[in-house]
Amino acid sequence: MKITCIGAGYVGGPTMAMIANKCPDIEVTVVDVNEARIAAWNDPDLSKLPVFEPQLDEVVAEARGRNLFFSTEVDTAIREADIIFISVNTPTKTYGAGAGQAADLKWVERCARQIAELVEKDIIIVEKSTVPIRTAAMIKSVLRAVGKGDRVKVLSNPEFLAEGTAVADLSNPDRVLIGGEDETAIETLVSVYAHWVPREKILTTNLWSSELSKLTANAFLAQRVSSINSISALCEETGADVNEVARAVGTDSRIGPKFLKASVGFGGSCFQKDILNLTYLCDYFGLPEVANYWKSVIELNDWQKGRFAQKIIATLFNTIAEKKIGILGFAFKKNTNDTRESAAISVCRDLLIERAHLAIYDPQVSLDQIIRDLEGVGISDAAERAANGEITKVASPLEAAESAHALAVLTEWDEFTSLPYQEIFDHMLKPACLFDGRNILDAKAATEVGFEIYSIGRGRSLDGEWQVR
Ligand code: NAD
Ligand code: UGA
Repeated sequence: MKITCIGAGYVGGPTMAMIANKCPDIEVTVVDVNEARIAAWNDPDLSKLPVFEPQLDEVVAEARGRNLFFSTEVDTAIREADIIFISVNTPTKTYGAGAGQAADLKWVERCARQIAELVEKDIIIVEKSTVPIRTAAMIKSVLRAVGKGDRVKVLSNPEFLAEGTAVADLSNPDRVLIGGEDETAIETLVSVYAHWVPREKILTTNLWSSELSKLTANAFLAQRVSSINSISALCEETGADVNEVARAVGTDSRIGPKFLKASVGFGGSCFQKDILNLTYLCDYFGLPEVANYWKSVIELNDWQKGRFAQKIIATLFNTIAEKKIGILGFAFKKNTNDTRESAAISVCRDLLIERAHLAIYDPQVSLDQIIRDLEGVGISDAAERAANGEITKVASPLEAAESAHALAVLTEWDEFTSLPYQEIFDHMLKPACLFDGRNILDAKAATEVGFEIYSIGRGRSLDGEWQVR
């Protein structure tokens, strides 16, 4: 059996590497129009893979060249495949009808047209990208229009991996979801996953349930983060500790402990995009109340990001122009080099609007990426400010702290859980402030060396006396 995957991104690359790794009898080719990306997937130096994920290098190393191939020969790979996964980007539309809300499906449709033109045998198309409900109907129409509607079966098989834990999620998924109408096609795809996933974890549904389940799952996850973040603000006003509240609430087995970590705000390429997509669909189908319900999850998240930046500005006496602020973490979560929709982008933008000088430390994100991200949110002179030394990428938390007024933790990288507080404090200007957007710092140790610390959702001082900050 030959599998082709169109799209060698954060999903296509790791997902196909896992399939190839677990199914030595299947030849897997991942294709992309992005030559640099394919070259990086083929780089003999595994530290240069385009996606940083723990253990991904080992998974790729075992299969690459054996039954896993990365190529820019899209047409050839389409012609030869028995199963084609479409794993291309589906970002929020930036133009025309539905701009800022609907998913842009032009890349998915392009793939469907390319397959329709090239395919000459019975194949299965698998929607791996996250798509609005009824996208499979569009793909089928494109194939029917060229008389290939009967030869090609379309399945929905959304991906639930999270970045940073992709390898673990793929090798031991909570479930694999396959939606379709044709039992033989469904069974063929089930047999691929059954190489390593227990059958009872492979759920099969109709096409539309599968497509909608993906959007719904992301909406529910994001909603939990916004829910606990909303409570974090109330904690700060009242003296409750959001960690304690989350633990108390999460030990109820009906609620569960996961996804209750208060933070500076959720980021990532999908939560916001998928909720916007869901709200667009609800509006489209005449359900504005449902759309508004989900919209509030994003509004709360935007508010939380802005609230954190305002807390920094207010604490530094409402004037941060030319003050150095160290930023610890720029990725949207730990263990990834991905910055898409990272809360750090929005917090840094707010600080840069006030003309702060930022020294940014992140173990995986480059200065070029940071500049691109800041330009994307309106800091049009980000490159110039970097050239002037107003935005720098530094090599350690200590360097970020050097002569800084404040340090802000925006990503929960493990190394930030054991900072040398005394040394950092000694290198900073006084008063030295810590802003913990992830609740990972040791507030007691930091306070003892003299820091003023603000942690999300924790208004209470360490001696138990409630402080209003
Ligand atoms: P990505 O942008 O990292 O990768 C998509 C790739 O597709 C790009 O490299 C692009 O060059 C390529 N591409 C686009 N059109 C092409 C074409 N016609 N021919 C060949 N290559 C083409 O995106 P991603 O993060 O991998 O996400 C892909 C899809 O998976 C999205 O729909 C996303 O919502 C979904 N998803 C992402 C994640 C995640 O963790 N990133 C998790 C689950 C689902
Ligand atoms: C999320 C989902 O978890 C995946 O199941 C899904 O496949 C993926 O989106 C997708 O469709 O792209 P991902 O965005 O990679 O995965 O990462 P998450 O672990 O979900 O974190 C998302 C954001 O929420 C991060 O910024 C994270 O820091 C934040 N978060 C998460 C919190 O602030 N608190 C929490 O308790 C959990």
